[in-house]
Amino acid sequence: MKTQVAIVGAGPAGLLLGALLHQAGIANVIIERQSAAYVLGRIRAGILEQGTVDLLDQVGVGQRLHREGTVHHSIELVFKGQRHAVDVQGLSGGKVVTAYGQTEVTHDLMDARAQLGLSTVYEAADVQIHDFDGTRPRITYTHNAQTHALQADFIAGCDGFHGICRASVPEDAITEYEKVYPFGWLGVLADVPPVSPHAIVYGNSERGFSLCSMRSPTRSRYYVQCALNDQVAQWSDARFWTELKSRLDPELASRIVTGPSIEKSIAPLRSFVAEPMRFGRLFLAGDAAHIVPPTGAKGLNLAASDVKYLSDAFIEFYGEKSQAGIDGYSERALKRIWKAERFSWWLTSLMHRFPDTGAFGQKMQDAELEYLVGSQALSTVLAENYVGLPL
Ligand code: APR
Ligand code: PHB
Repeated sequence: MKTQVAIVGAGPAGLLLGALLHQAGIANVIIERQSAAYVLGRIRAGILEQGTVDLLDQVGVGQRLHREGTVHHSIELVFKGQRHAVDVQGLSGGKVVTAYGQTEVTHDLMDARAQLGLSTVYEAADVQIHDFDGTRPRITYTHNAQTHALQADFIAGCDGFHGICRASVPEDAITEYEKVYPFGWLGVLADVPPVSPHAIVYGNSERGFSLCSMRSPTRSRYYVQCALNDQVAQWSDARFWTELKSRLDPELASRIVTGPSIEKSIAPLRSFVAEPMRFGRLFLAGDAAHIVPPTGAKGLNLAASDVKYLSDAFIEFYGEKSQAGIDGYSERALKRIWKAERFSWWLTSLMHRFPDTGAFGQKMQDAELEYLVGSQALSTVLAENYVGLPL
């Protein structure tokens, strides 16, 4: 089998890249190791920057997002038992974010790809990439007990943090930067109305971080910071709801609608970047190249900006026979990635309790929060990063 761009991974990055390339008339095949149902079963974040919404509209999958998504004009910060609104829209020159689950984004992209009859190989086993340092890279994989080879001009590694593409790059050709945070997030999904349907609430209390979000007007998403060695089994629904309320201001806590969890999981937090993002005919995009702590809701949005840059580069290569875009992809993407890494690290550092902070460090965190909610300058920094820096 042969194509122009072989994409490894059918998550948001791979699917959006495939849609952008198809729209530009560039043939592409996606090779995914899991089943479609498995991919859709992943519970992930749900805040879209305007740039991401625009890209989904561009490839014609924005209809449900506009119907079912919720536009947010502000966020709220809770600390020392008080809640403070940050007018994200006003401070960012009118930009907003949209609450719409990543699972739904993936679903919409998958449906559109299937309707177009584009080739996606699910449940591909033993995926390997070859000869990407030459001009005829290829992917081999096993599917239905048969071994297949896919010849391509380029390989897009959209296979996430644990994928095969970055792992296939020689160690001396890649530099990895990583910070692992000393806590995790315990997340709960529940079919109860969100306590704050028009503003994500970020809390920093003596007991730790908390977050109030949503997936729809009838489905809430909540998180509390937990110890790295915590187990989901230690967290009954009752314990979770009590803990969440204890970390919010009394008025908000009094309005939390509780109910049985339909999903409960613990995720570690990490900042990670691999440089560069291009190795001959192999290009990394999305979580394959970088990870952010979810605090700033940047993961999906960075995957979207990566594939926007990468699709532009391929379009330039095939359309104008120019190498400039593919030669400049890594540097261009990393400029935006590092700014998002900084914001995600900063907001995580500001809103969480760290075991080694100490009394002085806690005073610094308290002072920065007080300064933030009283300073238009610092609130503007928060707002313009939260809505997404320009592409
Ligand atoms: N072969 C084929 N597919 C693979 C392989 C492999 N060896 N390894 C992983 N994959 C697939 C995974 O099964 C997954 O479906 O690649 C896909 C990668 O998708 P994501 O992990 O969702 O990464 P990405 O598409 O970059 O999206 C980033 O998703 O993980 C969240 O928080 C992250 O919001 C961010 C967004
Ligand atoms: C979510 O809805 O899962 C979510 C929202 C905002 C964040 C992180 C996660 O900053």
